[in-house]
Amino acid sequence: MKQDKIIFFDTTLRDGEQSPGASMNFQEKLLVAKQLETLGVDVIEAGFPISSPGDFESVKAIAKAVKKSSVAGLARASEKDIKAAWDAVKYAKKPRIHIFLATSDLHIEKKLQKTRAQILEMAVKAVKYGKSLCKDIEFSAEDAGRSDMDFLCKVVEAVINAGASTVNIPDTVGYTMPAEFGAKIAEIKKRVPNINKAIISVHCHNDLGLAVANSLSAIENGARQVECTINGIGERAGNASLEEIAMAIKVRPHYYNVGHNINTKEIYKTSKLVSSLTGVAVQVNKAVVGANAFAHESGIHQDGVLKSRETYEIMNPADVGVPESSLVLGKHSGRHALFNRIKSLGYKLESKALEQIFEKFKVLADKKKVIFDDDIVALIEEDAASE
Ligand code: KIV
Ligand code: ZN
Repeated sequence: MKQDKIIFFDTTLRDGEQSPGASMNFQEKLLVAKQLETLGVDVIEAGFPISSPGDFESVKAIAKAVKKSSVAGLARASEKDIKAAWDAVKYAKKPRIHIFLATSDLHIEKKLQKTRAQILEMAVKAVKYGKSLCKDIEFSAEDAGRSDMDFLCKVVEAVINAGASTVNIPDTVGYTMPAEFGAKIAEIKKRVPNINKAIISVHCHNDLGLAVANSLSAIENGARQVECTINGIGERAGNASLEEIAMAIKVRPHYYNVGHNINTKEIYKTSKLVSSLTGVAVQVNKAVVGANAFAHESGIHQDGVLKSRETYEIMNPADVGVPESSLVLGKHSGRHALFNRIKSLGYKLESKALEQIFEKFKVLADKKKVIFDDDIVALIEEDAASE
């Protein structure tokens, strides 16, 4: 049976840039877009063209520069926004207009001060207008995670009839739980009669640290596009992280039984580029791309990894573009890792000398968090001098 492919929609340049302090200039956005294309992202959301003249220009430049990925521009459900989005993305080989409108009662009443009937009408009108300009229309039901299911299904059905080829179900405030969110996707698939005419997409925020889990649960239940960002950056606690979703699918192929176009070997390079340009650091224990993701400190783990990498690594670091795992020498490290490092530093020592250095190493490790190669060389020289 042919395997489905998950469409990766990267919104680092739009939602990601909404991380406080993460804004990028024109050249930086262009650099990130080119790298996202190399990474194999299917759709690049380049920005929100109506939001500023600078954003409009960078979306337009990205649309001209990117050849393989689709380029999307965000728009509210208004003609002015949609026209601006189209004017920016129309230069792309594969342009997309992404229209969003809230469907939860909270947003409808408090933020938009409208009724459900008005929202339904606005959504249909916006999608029809978008479709008159662009073949590829995505509609997002903002705050779908907290929307009434009857109304959400009604909106989804109506926007597909109006021409949306992708319907996005965002968990805008990261409120849902994985099983609950997966069930919502399953319910939409079951209840919306024309759902097979569109791709179901999800866009999960990370307020409770569940964005990736929710996205994966949605995939299990039929979503075929995931919206995500590099390093999980984005509004508030961020968006689902592209690298974590891509690697979960790669590491567990039989569990998900879907494929994707992400060239995972480009992940680390992309992560570094985005963190250096946005100034948003990657936490050291971040899955897949954190500095400690392939670092081992405990003696038992180091011994295991030296015997067979798979004992404590479920991914090959080379698969995400990290050249090799690292054995960090510290107070939890054992003989095997230390002796291995001494050998790799070019020393051939007798077992008596090795044991003496190991004793001194343990004393030093109690005082220092990490033992560097220079510390080891100093211990070796000191030991040799005392003989
Ligand atoms: O979080 C959200 O709902 C969004 C939409 C614009 C898709 O970012
Ligand atoms: Zn968002």
